[in-house]
Amino acid sequence: MSSAESGYRVAVLGATGLVGRTMIQVLEERRFPVSELVPLASSRSKGQVVTFQGREFSTEVPSAEIFKGVDIALFSAGATASREWATVAAEAGAVVIDNSSAFRMDEGIPLVVPEVNPEAIFDIEGKPAKIIANPNCSTIQMVVVLKPLFDRYGIRRIVVSTYQSVTGKGKAGRDALESELAGNVPEQFTHFHQIAFNAVPQIDSFTDNGYTKEEMKMVNETRKIMGDQTLSVSPTTVRIPVYGGHGESVNVELESDFDIDDVRKLLAGSPGIVLQDDPSARLYPMPLTSYEKDEVFVGRLRPDFWNPRTLNMWIVADNLRKGAATNAVQIAEVLVGKL
Ligand SMILES: NC(=O)c1ccc[n+]([C@@H]2O[C@H](COP(=O)([O-])OP(=O)(O)OC[C@H]3O[C@@H](n4cnc5c(N)ncnc54)[C@H](OP(=O)(O)O)[C@@H]3O)[C@@H](O)[C@H]2O)c1
Repeated sequence: MSSAESGYRVAVLGATGLVGRTMIQVLEERRFPVSELVPLASSRSKGQVVTFQGREFSTEVPSAEIFKGVDIALFSAGATASREWATVAAEAGAVVIDNSSAFRMDEGIPLVVPEVNPEAIFDIEGKPAKIIANPNCSTIQMVVVLKPLFDRYGIRRIVVSTYQSVTGKGKAGRDALESELAGNVPEQFTHFHQIAFNAVPQIDSFTDNGYTKEEMKMVNETRKIMGDQTLSVSPTTVRIPVYGGHGESVNVELESDFDIDDVRKLLAGSPGIVLQDDPSARLYPMPLTSYEKDEVFVGRLRPDFWNPRTLNMWIVADNLRKGAATNAVQIAEVLVGKL
């Protein structure tokens, strides 16, 4: 029987991808109790060696057999692979923490950001859900900052514009920028248009209402995580040619009056947040300075000119870390001792 003392068997599906590699790095950095790592990817990567805590593990392809004896399975191989393997892994006895969009909005599947709603992981008897969904990267960093504001002041409406890193589209997204910068012109652009020297106001495909799927994720996931189906979220999501993290300009209308210095103190003292807000020193969050960090950075705090109950801010986080891998490992940390 696995335990915190003996360590857990942890599978990572998508171990060769940007998020999967980061998951393995974060498990090691945070000294998650792992007795054995089971790296999984597609048949393209079978046999690829992954080094973890100085030991080498060979990458396998997923199968019903391979999930037997796995305690925790971190999935980051896209929604199709998650739909194929999550139930198989759960039936084999693993708790699945899924990074894809496959189950996020399913009733009965908790959608979790540990700083916001860790209690959602467990049922009333204290048993963890068999499949736990990790939210979309742009949603995670926003709700970490919204939660303390929601609890103290109440929130009426959120208007958010994102500036998202090419790594949000995985290896293909990163490689596309590098190839374009090297002067290559592809037959089909990975980011719908040239991304080098550009900003593309489309992430994922459009839905019938004129918003993209990425934008609708921000609307629906924010409501589910915050437990408030009346929250108004008005998003525009944009891909820009940066690495290191997603930026978000957020205009949030609160239910009650606020003092801007109190807001600064509140956010600086809230879990997972680093306040970087000193315009005189040109201190504010940026993707370059958020790169490879686990926290969510917030700055440029100022009241809206026209509505005294409305706050403007700028939020940045490394999408591969807090937006994906770190959040998943933090969920796994909540499970330690409770499996
Ligand atoms: N990138 C982000 O910022 C971010 C943030 C939040 C959530 N996510 C989600 O995390 C997932 C992975 O994203 P990523 O950025 O890491 O993508 P990526 O760099 O393209 O990596 C994809 C990984 O999935 C594996 N894979 C693909 N199809 C598979 C299959 N049918 N069976 C087994 N393994 C398969 C790939 O293996 P091979 O190497 O063998 O092809 C690779 O290891 C996606 O669901 C994405 O939406 C990403």
